[in-house]
Amino acid sequence: MTESKRQLDSDISVPKHIAIIMDGNGRWAKKKGQPRIAGHKEGMNNVKTIATAASHLGVKVLSLYAFSTENWSRPSKEVNFLMKLPVDFFGTFMPDLIKENIRVFVTGFTDHLPDKTRKVVLKAVEDTKGNTGMILNFAFNYGGRAEIVNAAKNLAIEAASGSIDPSDIDDAMFADHLLTNHLKELADPDLLIRTSGEERISNFMLWQLAYTEMIFDDSYWPDFTVDDLVEDIKEFDRRDRRYGSV
Ligand code: FPP
Repeated sequence: MTESKRQLDSDISVPKHIAIIMDGNGRWAKKKGQPRIAGHKEGMNNVKTIATAASHLGVKVLSLYAFSTENWSRPSKEVNFLMKLPVDFFGTFMPDLIKENIRVFVTGFTDHLPDKTRKVVLKAVEDTKGNTGMILNFAFNYGGRAEIVNAAKNLAIEAASGSIDPSDIDDAMFADHLLTNHLKELADPDLLIRTSGEERISNFMLWQLAYTEMIFDDSYWPDFTVDDLVEDIKEFDRRDRRYGSV
């Protein structure tokens, strides 16, 4: 049994899909008198720790909000650094991903990424496609509203061409046109965690979060620990999910 598995009793229900808004890298760096990018670097290192622990705890999908469609408005130095992070991450972490049987997915408008970033991310998806364990799903150049508009546009195109009947559009067909369609029945997170004390969802998985339990942690992302994750899973287990029923 792994270290983290030992921290959960066997009767605890582990969320199948955990989504995390990894917030607070900038403030973490400021607190230490370092540049914001140092916070992102430390945040990237913490992705390794938390992803490994989540996999050991039996999580099926871990979705991480790594870059939003709104993050392009940050200073170019910071955007460039964030675009290079996947090169560093997969360059150093791929052996562990293979060892841990973790499969990488990306959810986002990848066509609009710089060439080098897109290539390294899609290569990681390709190199891990045979892995059967946890899915590590990076939301990269992702925005919930843009995703919904994109789905509506594609459905309209299909309806106009006659390949679908508009009256057949239902929740399932709509979900199938979202960027998370590759996650199939696991597309909707069971638990959303946001770090850094902010309590909002910032355009993340707007459709998919409809019935998701939410936990807001005070730690900045680089300080978020495996123990915090375990405590959040225990809190999730105490929640009563009714999906609009009684
Ligand atoms: C939000 O904190 C964080 C981000 C916009 C980037 C998150 C990215 C990582 C943690 C690294 C991702 C790793 C890979 C492999 C791509 P913030 O900068 O808004 O923090 P602040 O609110 O304190 O300023």
